[in-house]
Formats: sequence, structure tokens, C-alpha cells
Amino acid sequence: MKILNVVGARPNFMKMAPIIAAIQRRAQEVAQVLVHTGQHYDETMSASFFRDLQMPAPDINLEIGSGTHAEQTAMVMLALEPVLIAERPDWVVVVGDVNSTLAAALTAAKLGIKIAHVEAGLRSFDRAMPEEINRVLTDRISDLLLTPSKDADRNLLAEGIAPERIVCVGNVMIDSLFVQVERARQSTILADLNVSPRQFGVVTLHRPSNVDDAATLKNIFAALTAIAAELPIVFPIHPRTKARLAEFGIEPPPTLRLIEPLGYRDFLQLWSNARLVLTDSGGLQEETTAMGIPCLTLRDNTERPITIEQGTNRLVGRELASIVAAAIEILNSEQPRQPRIPDLWDGRTAERIVEALLKN
Ligand code: UD1
Repeated sequence: MKILNVVGARPNFMKMAPIIAAIQRRAQEVAQVLVHTGQHYDETMSASFFRDLQMPAPDINLEIGSGTHAEQTAMVMLALEPVLIAERPDWVVVVGDVNSTLAAALTAAKLGIKIAHVEAGLRSFDRAMPEEINRVLTDRISDLLLTPSKDADRNLLAEGIAPERIVCVGNVMIDSLFVQVERARQSTILADLNVSPRQFGVVTLHRPSNVDDAATLKNIFAALTAIAAELPIVFPIHPRTKARLAEFGIEPPPTLRLIEPLGYRDFLQLWSNARLVLTDSGGLQEETTAMGIPCLTLRDNTERPITIEQGTNRLVGRELASIVAAAIEILNSEQPRQPRIPDLWDGRTAERIVEALLKN
């Protein structure tokens, strides 16, 4: 059997690394090829993750780079089609919900190559999010829907997807987390930033709905500035957000420390020692749940409701008062609520994925 794995953007790498390792362990039965679309290309957004996650270098890099949604999607399709024709894999494996995910799935579907979608079935029910479009369409054309949790199965069934195409395998990102958490302790990031465990907060923000509108971003920064007066905050800043801050003339106070994006291990060591995480990332909602770190999500909805029902996550929207009040509540609470780690978020998801690929 031959599997062709596709990655494109930062949140794909920690999902694919354990799958590649699990396939390597069965190299007698399965050959694999790794394609990087090049959607993310900076050292800090891509190469450093390959190193930290001990991933092999991509066999093929399509080098598509940045662009509008249509440009990115079209460029991946144009560049990937000849690769799929030459490689003729039995499976194309795509992960997550970025533009590269949908573009690769669409290219494979038109060539009649079977597609497995890892992290299938998540729904925010908010079509204004580009990722929601990518999720719905990728699931629709995939042959095997590998879900992280039972709520995802229910979403797919409600959309009329045949139950035999759905396999609940658990959350593969947590495989990476469990493998790397010990190694991350060697990171010197806390000392480098001169912060002590549980004495600081971590912020990440990059969603267009939060950072592309001046009034919304100013409002969020006003909230972060108020919180930073109580708890120093470290903010590894996404290139999109950095560009918007300059454009909108927003100048954060010194207690809100903006730093360059971090690699996987440094960032893991940072957030897992934080008192509080504020984010609009999807993955971080799940990772904080797995490690029991309080998380406030600056969005009105989430495609990952299990992190609220069972984990440490809370939706706080984008209003100044609600963000600050939720943060202060966490700072004043002695003992955060003990979260439950969802079923099958056990570090063995990649093995189950490979089993499912071999069986189908
Ligand atoms: C993409 C994903 C999003 C994911 C996020 C994680 C889509 C629709 N969005 O959003 O789901 O949560 O990645 O980061 O696929 N840029 C750089 N260096 C890079 C990559 C991007 O400077 O290596 C800058 C460019 O100016 C680019 C902008 O960031 O135009 C946005 O990049 P893009 O890949 O379009 O989307 P993200 O916002 O990163």
C-alpha cells in the first residue's frame, strides 16, 4: 500500500507527525510520500516544526506560498495534480481544515484516489469562517472520515454521511503532545523570557474575524492590556496579526510582551506552564484541555465543544468586559476545575488511523 500525506500550514504539522511515525513502524506493509504545499513557508511557521516534531523533510514541496483563498486553493490543485498522477497512491491523507486540506482533497477526488480526512466532523456552524467551508467540503468528498470525538460523528451522520465511512480514532494532536511534553522540559524559554511557572498568561490570536477588523482588534487589545495589569502576558504573534497591529497603529503596553512565533517545543513549554491561556486557535483549545490549563477562547463559537463540556475551555466572545471578567475569575480561583481528558485522546490515535487505512 502507498499513502501520500499532505501538509500545508502550521496546525497540520503536529497532526501529521505521529501518523508518519506510525506508518514508519509498519514500513514492511506501507510506503509513504510526504507533500508540503508550502502554504506556510517561514522558518518559524514551518521548518522549526519539522525539526521539533522530528518529521522527515517533505519529499515534494509545492511552494505555493501566500495568496487569496482562490489563489491558494487553485495553486495547490495545479501543483498537486501531476504529483498524484505520477505517484498514484492508494490513499491521500489530509488533516485539519486549512486551504491546503480542501485543495488536496479536491484534487485527489477528481482523480479517483481515495481520501482519508483526519479531524473530520468538527463543525462551528459558522460559514463566515473559511475553515468551516474547508471542513464541510473536505468531509463531503472524503472516503474515510477519521474523527477526534463522538460529537464529530454525530455531525457527520446528521449531514447524511454513511456510518461505515466514519471511524472515531481520537485526537491525533494529543499524540504529538504526549510524545513532546517531556522533551519540551529541556526548553529554556521560561528563563529566556524571565517568567516563572503559573505567574504569566499566554495569548495567541490570528483569526481574520478577530484581527482583520480595526475596531475588534483594538477592543481585544484593550482587554488584554487590562488583564496584563494583573498578570504579565506573553504573546507570540502570528505574521497576519503583526501586520494588522502596524496597519491599525495599535501599540501594546510593556506588560503585554509580543515575541516572534515560537517552535513547537518552546511553545509547549510556555503554554503548559501558564496560569491562563487566551486564544482564538482551534488546536490550543484541545491542547489546554489535555494538560488541564485554563483556556479562554476569544470567539463566539467553537467547532470543538468537547473542550468546554469536558475540558478547561470557555467561550468569552470579543467584548472587553466579558474577556476581562473571565480572566479575573480564573486569577482569583484557587483551584481550577479538574477537567476530564476526552475518550481516545490517549496518544495512540495515529496507530488507529493506520489500522483504519489498512482495513479500508
Ligand atoms: C491559516 C489557516 C488557519 C490556521 C492558520 C494557522 C486557512 C484558510 N487558514 O491561516 O486555519 O489556523 O493558518 O497559522 O488555510 N504568512 C507569513 N509567513 C508564513 C505564512 C503566512 O508571513 O509562513 C503571512 C502572509 O502575509 C499571509 C498571511 O500570513 O498572507 C496569512 O497566511 P495564510 O496561510 O493565508 O493564512 P493564516 O492566517 O496563516
